[in-house]
Amino acid sequence: MVRRVRTAVLPVAGLGTRFLPATKAMPKEMLTVVDKPVIQYAVDEAREAGIEHLVFVTGRNKGVIEDHFDRQFELEATLESRGKLEELEQLRRDLPRAGQTSFTRQQEPLGLGHAVWCARDIVGREPFALLLPDMIFKSEPGVLKQMMDAYEESGGNVIAVEEVDPADVASYGVVARGEGPDSGFSITGMVEKPSPEEAPSNLIISGRYILQPEIFMLLSEQTVGTGGEIQITDSMRHLMDMQPFTGVKYEGRSFDCGSKIGFLTANVVFALDRPDIAETFMDELRALTGEIPITVEE
Ligand code: UTP
Repeated sequence: MVRRVRTAVLPVAGLGTRFLPATKAMPKEMLTVVDKPVIQYAVDEAREAGIEHLVFVTGRNKGVIEDHFDRQFELEATLESRGKLEELEQLRRDLPRAGQTSFTRQQEPLGLGHAVWCARDIVGREPFALLLPDMIFKSEPGVLKQMMDAYEESGGNVIAVEEVDPADVASYGVVARGEGPDSGFSITGMVEKPSPEEAPSNLIISGRYILQPEIFMLLSEQTVGTGGEIQITDSMRHLMDMQPFTGVKYEGRSFDCGSKIGFLTANVVFALDRPDIAETFMDELRALTGEIPITVEE
């Protein structure tokens, strides 16, 4: 029997410099894809996978995330008195239950590995899921649920991966693939941001992990790695010497909402999936692509 994964860590302490000036006073995790903040997609995915406790590692300017996952009594009363019951129901569905959230601070954005380490006391000595909320997915079931299914079989540590063009590997953590099917294969190595020549494959780590608590001990010893930040991949590589890692090449499509193109594409794709607006939006898109000559100014 594997130990159940009850807790998820969501690091949201990054600076979001790629979205300045939008992120000057507002966290990038609150940017909306259609009408839902990016962070809500990751929270919904975690809850669908059976997660019972959400640990947010926050930083400066992130108080609004805490407010988003709290009740807004005035708003709820107003919606009720105006008969906006569908909206009210949606707000209630989105909200984790009382006591299911914790917030801790990463006082300085020293890197993802450091952000995860900040959650160590809240997570304790249990396996946990790690979701980078910038990454959202169109998939059925959710990516974390697909990973939980693999975890039931394999235990240990599980990482979601996807294929990219081999020329693009240098922006990502890359894994080496061993035996097993797409739904759960052994990982035999990993490297952060390799050159295409050094890369062991074109399978990149795509922002979802199930990790054993021993990672915290390794993170606490870790020094700065690639890009001057404390990287999670370095500690995972050490953990590989002690515990198995399983890769899940998930079914679905990812959108990196930490980049402008990923964020804009996500808005288009998720809008076209919404019965209330899809048709009208598609008409607008058709008109736009037909009417506007696409030119790029030098
Ligand atoms: P990114 O590197 O994509 O986020 O980190 P960033 O630094 O906010 O973005 P840019 O490059 O400046 O635009 C991936 C995830 O890890 C979190 C981020 O909030 C994001 O969810 N993170 C990163 C932290 O919580 N702390 C850190 O020190 C670094």
